[in-house]
Amino acid sequence: MTQYLLSPITLRDLTVRNRIWVPPMCQYSALARDGVATDFHLMHYGSFARGGAGAVIVEATGVLPEGRIAPQDLGLWNNAQRDALRPVVDLVHSFGAAAGIQLAHAGRKASTEPEWGTPNPGASLAVADGGWETVGPSARAYDSLTAPVALDEAGIDAVVDAFAAAAVRAVEAGFDLVEVHAAHGYLLHEFLSPLSNQRTDSYGGELAGRARLLLRVVDAVRGAIPHGMPLVVRISATEWIEGGFDLEQATELVTWLGEHGVDMVDVSSGGNAPLPEGEKIPVGPGYQTPLAAHLRARTEVPVSAVGMLDEPFQAEHVLATGQADVVRVGRAFMREPNWGLDAALALRGDAEIIPPQYRRSFRQQLRRG
Ligand SMILES: Cc1cc2nc3c(=O)[nH]c(=O)nc-3n(C[C@H](O)[C@H](O)[C@H](O)COP(=O)(O)O)c2cc1C
Repeated sequence: MTQYLLSPITLRDLTVRNRIWVPPMCQYSALARDGVATDFHLMHYGSFARGGAGAVIVEATGVLPEGRIAPQDLGLWNNAQRDALRPVVDLVHSFGAAAGIQLAHAGRKASTEPEWGTPNPGASLAVADGGWETVGPSARAYDSLTAPVALDEAGIDAVVDAFAAAAVRAVEAGFDLVEVHAAHGYLLHEFLSPLSNQRTDSYGGELAGRARLLLRVVDAVRGAIPHGMPLVVRISATEWIEGGFDLEQATELVTWLGEHGVDMVDVSSGGNAPLPEGEKIPVGPGYQTPLAAHLRARTEVPVSAVGMLDEPFQAEHVLATGQADVVRVGRAFMREPNWGLDAALALRGDAEIIPPQYRRSFRQQLRRG
């Protein structure tokens, strides 16, 4: 039987051992608020690699201090942050997985209280409490967060430069691939969406204008990393809101991304504005997969699917039916850090994926296969 989930995939010069990838997930664990990875990150990312992931993508990492969602986010705007990520990359490699990092700027959704350990998770963090002034395409707030300042040309140039500089540091830290975060209502998505981008200059208006910043970032990052290194972009393929950034625009955008040297698009959704009263995102198993399938069918760019793909056979089905090239498993991998090993056994794949130190513990399951 063909096994898709466990088969390798090659993007440029990188061959990843399987198609089970762990998506970026913020941990808010740079507790010294300096953006520097700690032992927690070493253990956390290492465990996914030990547990059979093909690629492990490190969480949204701020390219600038003001680009962090919360002060406890990782950063990559200085060399101390780069150096602290090297052992994380080395540990992931030691278990045979590829290491990626998501470079991010949170735009108008920056400067918030982290998801845990504070009284008002997700609320704006005031400057007096260690927060900062946020920036966006326009001076329009996200929901109840503090309104941002609209970026001027110089501010836009600084963002592009910061993505490129962070990409150079990612390469120096040993990462195998770089992902640009253009989803979930953060800065690059804010520019893409007519709901948050009301600019009248060349960065607003029609899709070509709204996509200009993302394409500049992609060009700058592509130019900063080796030719053989894959570049991934994560998008929200729809905002699930009438008049927002939608699948049709996403299809055009992905075509452009391919032309600009992007090797894979990860297809997520939502996050840029709350839905109108009474409307809900149709969250459920595989609910974003049709978006990935749509883009894969209409563009030349490989795609990864993500979102409640919690079961190995479900993930296998997504690949076997040609809906995506890679499946990302997030929360399920956090609940069960051996998700990849279990999937390999469930699909009766190659037991080689099990680290030799762990094989004795899996003996019964191996016999069953
Ligand atoms: C704790 C947590 C943190 C997350 N942080 C990020 C992030 O840093 N960047 C991002 O693009 N998505 C982030 N996400 C979204 C996940 O990458 C993923 O798309 C989402 O959890 C759906 O996949 P799943 O159902 O397999 O968990 C986060 C999700 C969780 C649960």
